[in-house]
Amino acid sequence: MNAMEERLQKAFDHLKGRIRLPAGTVGIIPGTGWGDVADALEDKGAIPYDELPDFPRATFHKGAFTWGKLGGHPVILAGRLHYYEGRSPDETVMPLRLLKLLGVEKLLLTNASGGIAPGLVPGSFMAVTDHIQLFLPSPLRGENLASFGPRFPDMTGLYSPRLLAALARAAERAGVPLYRGVYAQMPGPQFETPAEVRALKLLGADAVGMSTATEAVAARHAGMEVAGISFVTNFAAGIGELPPGHEDRFAIAAQAAPAMAALLKEAVAEFALLD
Ligand code: HPA
Repeated sequence: MNAMEERLQKAFDHLKGRIRLPAGTVGIIPGTGWGDVADALEDKGAIPYDELPDFPRATFHKGAFTWGKLGGHPVILAGRLHYYEGRSPDETVMPLRLLKLLGVEKLLLTNASGGIAPGLVPGSFMAVTDHIQLFLPSPLRGENLASFGPRFPDMTGLYSPRLLAALARAAERAGVPLYRGVYAQMPGPQFETPAEVRALKLLGADAVGMSTATEAVAARHAGMEVAGISFVTNFAAGIGELPPGHEDRFAIAAQAAPAMAALLKEAVAEFALLD
């Protein structure tokens, strides 16, 4: 066991007696605006990250594991840690690696983003079909965590085609239009310059944010099945007339809360039908 594996094991030792997840529990990392889903859980339990030894504290999202049932299906939420909070990429993926140790096999990553592609106006939802994570170090850098996965994991088909199909069915059922596109992760915390957004567009990005791709890489490494949904809170820099940060991201996300809740509930129900 290397140092990170030992750190994860210590946190897991604190969790394992207290969290019993039924088979098929879906892991969710809630992005900005998506965390309200915790309020909708039945039979809820929670363990804050600060009860765990040597575990990073969250400074932006709620740092906790929260589990329960969503629409009758078991889920567990893990609060997100960002690179821009000063954590190394391998620390930002500790929550999802613990989900893996707890037996979670399907992981739904959600986030807020700036829209780049035509049509991705504030208020849109985009299923992530692939990502660009060229601008920050890999969470797998350093000694390989061989107990989780291989040194050189394949990243093709990372956003599971069958979960993408399930998301499309869920969106239809929830009555929420769902775009599909490529998500680019930037390190943040500053929003991008217009030149950076033009560069991202040339690279093939449809939306830009500050999370998710790093997590997806570690989840694939650990053999988890990954899906991602992005909620567009603003036009990316230089795309719309207003700069990012001008609109109130939280207010836009709050307006979309019913759509987010419906989408998540239907997504979890669709995922439950697989395997
Ligand atoms: N850029 C990066 N991250 C974001 C944005 C953006 O425009 N909007 C919400 N998160």
